[in-house]
Amino acid sequence: MIPTMLTLGIETSCDETGVALYDSERGLLAHALHSQVDLHAEYGGVVPEIASRDHVRKLLPLVSHCLSEAGLARSDIDGVAYTAGPGLIGALLVGAATGRALALSLDVPALEVHHMEGHLLAPMLEPDPPSLPFVALLVSGGHSMLVEVRAIGDYRLLGETLDDAAGEAFDKTAKLLGLGYPGGPALARKAEEGDSGRFDFPRPMTDRPGLDFSFSGLKTHTRNLYERHAGEDGVEADIAAGFQQAVVDTLAIKCRRAMQQTRARQLVIAGGVGANLALRARLKADGEKHGWAVAYPRLAFCTDNGAMIAYAGCQRLLAGEHTGLDIEARARWPLDSLSPPAAGAAA
Ligand code: KG4
Ligand code: ZN
Repeated sequence: MIPTMLTLGIETSCDETGVALYDSERGLLAHALHSQVDLHAEYGGVVPEIASRDHVRKLLPLVSHCLSEAGLARSDIDGVAYTAGPGLIGALLVGAATGRALALSLDVPALEVHHMEGHLLAPMLEPDPPSLPFVALLVSGGHSMLVEVRAIGDYRLLGETLDDAAGEAFDKTAKLLGLGYPGGPALARKAEEGDSGRFDFPRPMTDRPGLDFSFSGLKTHTRNLYERHAGEDGVEADIAAGFQQAVVDTLAIKCRRAMQQTRARQLVIAGGVGANLALRARLKADGEKHGWAVAYPRLAFCTDNGAMIAYAGCQRLLAGEHTGLDIEARARWPLDSLSPPAAGAAA
């Protein structure tokens, strides 16, 4: 008989403190998130030291909150999964040290989780989860990649960004247009008022084969355009709309190429930029047109959260994987260096 595993998931890799309880039989029992957006807004971006300190303040209260929401006690926890990278080292260390110490005090296994594996598997938390194998478009503030997912832990990198991540391009463009932080959602809101056809924007790297991305040329093009047209009526909204359309088109072209190349039937969109409604609508329409299924996490699980870490951790803890007493946090951690859960446990 497979044992059940009530997993506490902890996410502190950047500017959100996320906690969740996922049970291998009963599913997601509770999740809570504290966003630090207000703390970083006045600096126009994430200040690592402020992020770390706020994780220290919020993490344990969020754990207590989740337990009481689920009507459970600490002693019910069977394993603790925490994000160990990639991300901001100080922020990661708060989750790693707290998660490791909690596991030690409860005498249960602890497990390091790869943040992007969390994003990748977030759609599995939905009522109608995608079937494996699939191709995933992972687009966040720090990463843009296309990954072939043959099984949990069996990841083949098909393409990635050569410079800025998609979310980073959104954030920088929003800053340029004076839309504030966090930039992605602000730019998407502004784009709704704009005319995407007023200015021409390039679709970077779509005219040559391959599945890599590059957004720095688009960023420079946008900056030059804004300098030329500054002060004109509605220019911010029209640039926002044109920029968003260019990113959406570029990502959609690469997704179609990846689906054709791998002959996959299922596409998954994950990561913060996956919350972009224009991108979701476009990829869904493409899926209907070309005959492949498209899955997304709910909006709240596109951006950073504890539920995806609890889910990913639970799959590996169930297979017997766990991390020793050393506490390690990694700013960089290649996704395709992971192994499937069972292989990891045997190692
Ligand atoms: O996955 P995430 O929460 O954190 C990282 O792991 O990076 O992604 C955050 C990124 C930010 O760059 C943010 O601007 C972007 O996702 N983002 C969006 C939207 N919501 C969040 N970008 C475009 N449209 C959105 N609606
Ligand atoms: Zn993330």
